[in-house]
Amino acid sequence: MILRNTIAGQLVLLLLIYGRHTLLSSAKTVANEQMSLALPEPRAYLPDAQNLDFVYHDHEELTRFLRATSARYPNLTALYSIGKSIQGRDLWVMVVSSSPYEHMVGKPDVKYVGNIHGNEPVGREMLLHLIQYFVSSYNTDQYVKWLLDNTRIHILPTMNPDGYAVSKEGTCDGGQGRYNARGFDLNRNFPDYFKQNNKRGQPETDAVKDWISKIQFVLSGSLHGGALVASYPYDNTPNSRICRSSALCAMFQTYSAAPSLTPDDDVFKHLSLVYARNHAKMSRGVACKSATPAFENGITNGAAWYPLTGGMQDFNYVWYGCMEITLEISCCKFPPAYELKKYWEDNQLSLIKFLAEAHRGVQGFVFDPAGMPIERASIKIKGRDVGFQTTKYGEFWRILLPGYYKAEVFAEGYAPREVEFVIVEQHPTLLNVTLQASKYIVGSIGNAAARKPKKERKQRHLLNDELPMPNE
Ligand SMILES: *[C@@H]1O[C@H](CO)[C@@H](O)[C@H](O)[C@H]1NC(C)=O
Ligand SMILES: *[C@@H]1O[C@H](CO)[C@@H](O)[C@H](O)[C@H]1NC(C)=O
Ligand SMILES: [Zn+2]
Repeated sequence: MILRNTIAGQLVLLLLIYGRHTLLSSAKTVANEQMSLALPEPRAYLPDAQNLDFVYHDHEELTRFLRATSARYPNLTALYSIGKSIQGRDLWVMVVSSSPYEHMVGKPDVKYVGNIHGNEPVGREMLLHLIQYFVSSYNTDQYVKWLLDNTRIHILPTMNPDGYAVSKEGTCDGGQGRYNARGFDLNRNFPDYFKQNNKRGQPETDAVKDWISKIQFVLSGSLHGGALVASYPYDNTPNSRICRSSALCAMFQTYSAAPSLTPDDDVFKHLSLVYARNHAKMSRGVACKSATPAFENGITNGAAWYPLTGGMQDFNYVWYGCMEITLEISCCKFPPAYELKKYWEDNQLSLIKFLAEAHRGVQGFVFDPAGMPIERASIKIKGRDVGFQTTKYGEFWRILLPGYYKAEVFAEGYAPREVEFVIVEQHPTLLNVTLQASKYIVGSIGNAAARKPKKERKQRHLLNDELPMPNE
């Protein structure tokens, strides 16, 4: 634990988390994995004021809580920092899992991000309680044990600690503390699929981009305040007008924006409904104020609410195939601390049930003829043009609803393959795909890559972070 308090120690820890590739020792079969449906519901967590009170924690208190928890539960947690804010505060991530230091081959990594807007800190506190809930329930709650045994959950309670530091408790609206210390809105700071985003990349955004390029997250939630709704991609649209300061323009957009739907719209709606329906009141779709919209079933498409450029959820989905949604969990952005307990009661089941959705759909490996994993094989579910890639262990995951599907699998130097599979409600479908070496020599006129339809090549391009943005 002393290790963790030094810079060198944190480096070592980062290396451990990012760099351990012991495939053999951590390879486990996923065949006997049980879908969460068969388990008893998670039990309510009874907060223990000695460990974590329902108050707002400043950065030092938050750091102390995370350090103390990782020291107390070394088998269930690992603490690492993905970088620092402009003012030098660590962007802490707590992993909670029965394998906190190593990716479990075949099992998904998922994440929550809190407080991207510094003045929306309910999510930040909810995530601290979620950590406490997981570690204190692991031995007594079957559902939590199942989730932690089969998932690595990465929790970034605050992405904008500098903004939080200048925010004021009790302030329900307004922008003070929303931005990072240089005045950038971090949820407008990501590369955008639809529009050129000219905003200068901020250290907090760069840290998150780097993080999600290293760990293949299957599912993610970003926690906000100021509304009560689960909002799903796309946030941007090919034809949005950007409102700068005109209130009239903003109002016009609120009522006229058209949905901007992804090819995985059924899945995103489902994920949003899982959150809303397990929440104490979100799915009732009640407006926060008479002047704000009421959302049917407590969910909305992002662009249909209001379009924005440079949002985090579109980036997660388009660049990495990670299904991220935006969770607006409090009408008041920074409500008084005495309301936190109520917010926890309203959200605790949603926060857990949402993560379990990473175990729905198809998962498996792509192998070469010798049975070795193929890294960066591209996979696309037919009819869903946003693809995804295998990890260095050849793994892939895709959340899908019950039905019949075809997947197209390609990798450089191998003959493309199409495979059919069925998804059922009760458990994920396990699918291993072996690719045969391409008969064509790379570079010859008939090679597989050259024969791919143009659209697919564009998709591969989209998925490669090293290439320039797709919006030339
Ligand atoms: C798929 O491959 C993995 C990794 O080798 C293996 O553990 C699993 O049993 C295979 N699953 C099926 C359905 O063949
Ligand atoms: C952690 O796991 C190891 C090995 O399974 C065990 O010996 C040890 O007691 C555990 N420690 C705690 C604090 O649970
Ligand atoms: Zn927000």
